[in-house]
Amino acid sequence: MELDPKSLEIVCFPDPILRKVAKPIEQITDHVHAVAMRMLELMHEAPGVGLAAPQVGLPWRLFVANPTREEGQDSVFINPVLINPSSKMAEVEEGCLSLPQVTANIRRPVAISIETLNLKGQTVQHHSEELAARVWQHENDHLDGVLILDRMSPIDKLANRSIIRELKRIATNRSGSSLRSRIPR
Ligand code: NI
Repeated sequence: MELDPKSLEIVCFPDPILRKVAKPIEQITDHVHAVAMRMLELMHEAPGVGLAAPQVGLPWRLFVANPTREEGQDSVFINPVLINPSSKMAEVEEGCLSLPQVTANIRRPVAISIETLNLKGQTVQHHSEELAARVWQHENDHLDGVLILDRMSPIDKLANRSIIRELKRIATNRSGSSLRSRIPR
């Protein structure tokens, strides 16, 4: 039985699903449609500008985005492929809904194109030199199990060290295996 899309919630680091390489979606069913709508809802609630399927516990190559946060600008990307990244790079501060309170300056190509299926199953291509270019790259990273933790500088890693430790501690307690965290170190 398929899970109820309404039950989907954003999962946080260090949930192992965030480290899996997601699989292409073979058929854009009503269920895929409903999941995408729920993801847009979660993204707006958060609030955020993008959300990838692994972030709601699904190993699918799908993400939703709305970089401008304007009404009518929601988009769904299915089995996306990034193409023609610019050689010009820029460092911009990023956060991630699966890494609450973690921020870091991430270096990425300034401009990029993306080829993707939309919800109607049509192949479409977009190009961006603006925030969308960065959002696509961040969300596409999620489909490959890559997090901003992997792309941040050693200085940012150090700056975020206690938050990351806290996220791990919360997860350990939640999973019930809290015994280990009780052992004094
Ligand atoms: Ni993220």
